[in-house]
Amino acid sequence: MIRVAVIGLGYWGPNLVRNFEAIDNAKVVYACDLVEENLNKIRRSYSSIKLTKDYREILKENIDLVCIATPPATHYEIAKDCLESGKHVLIEKPMTTSTDEALELIDIANDHGLKIFVDHTFVFSPPVIKIKELIKDIGKPLYFDSERINLGLLQKDVNVIWDLAPHDFSILTYLFDFEPERLIAIGSKLRHPYYEDLAHIMVKYDNGFIAHVHVSWLSPVKIRKTIIAGDRKMILYDDTNFFEKVKVYDKGVDIDLSKESPFFPTYRSGDIYVPKIENKEPLRIEAEHVVDCLLNNKKPKVDGYAGLKVVELLEACDKSLKEAKEVEL
Ligand SMILES: NC(=O)c1ccc[n+]([C@@H]2O[C@H](COP(=O)([O-])OP(=O)(O)OC[C@H]3O[C@@H](n4cnc5c(N)ncnc54)[C@H](O)[C@@H]3O)[C@@H](O)[C@H]2O)c1
Repeated sequence: MIRVAVIGLGYWGPNLVRNFEAIDNAKVVYACDLVEENLNKIRRSYSSIKLTKDYREILKENIDLVCIATPPATHYEIAKDCLESGKHVLIEKPMTTSTDEALELIDIANDHGLKIFVDHTFVFSPPVIKIKELIKDIGKPLYFDSERINLGLLQKDVNVIWDLAPHDFSILTYLFDFEPERLIAIGSKLRHPYYEDLAHIMVKYDNGFIAHVHVSWLSPVKIRKTIIAGDRKMILYDDTNFFEKVKVYDKGVDIDLSKESPFFPTYRSGDIYVPKIENKEPLRIEAEHVVDCLLNNKKPKVDGYAGLKVVELLEACDKSLKEAKEVEL
């Protein structure tokens, strides 16, 4: 039995409590938040979970895994304390607010023989897992174009890129093994007094692949659409479409340079394939994976290094915003 504690019981933390409580071989024994009302939410539904406002209480307990669902700026310090107390950690995205912090946590975990899991939830979502299977059929990958926009939730301590783009960056890192080379981020503080609430990011890869990510807290409607195009097929992933989240289009453009005319494009438009996708909560799949890794000493699908890759991209976005130019990775 894996004994679990959850620190941070605001919006996301209760989902971790619910999912770890629901699976075999795990039990949530402790939960923590600074705010009494958040502790009450857990008290009402789970009478056996011990509660505290001071996460240091948890460090003294016999606990295997601590889930950290506090605001990003607090992840490093809490995760460091947990690892130094001999606990494995599941850290919410983004893993930390700097690459130095992420590297230090990886070192501490390695020194203590502990595992870091980073909650890149989309990597466990059935549509993204299906896309990973389908990606080999799209031919040479050309581009990734994602829109992740809705009204709010404006965060107090990070900009919209740190809040929403970890999802796209984690999907990119999971789907493709080629390396990002350069990046440019353009953003504006339109309603938020301190941080960008709307941004566009372009990432260029070493093989010519290009990724565009548009994130915003200021859209009147919720859009979660991604196109992943190859030179043979193109995939549309619409996470708000309940029945047809993934569609594969047999469409593309071919240009025959051997023809007399220097520019002779032909357009292909074939079938559209809608794969069957399992309807299971990503966080449940992830919690089962985490427990399996701990019980059977397996390598996490999203470990500290995967968390670090995402933080590297986020940090580069900040640099690009600050310098108002493209930056190297
Ligand atoms: N994986 C996902 O899809 C997903 C979705 C939403 C949020 N998140 C991540 O989860 C984390 C939390 O986000 P949220 O939206 O739940 O934020 P939130 O502000 O709603 O909740 C954070 C909670 O942490 C508590 N907290 C802060 N410092 C603490 C401390 N030292 N000890 C104990 N509790 C403390 C706060 O009181 C608050 O209740 C963030 O890293 C966010 O990026 C992940």
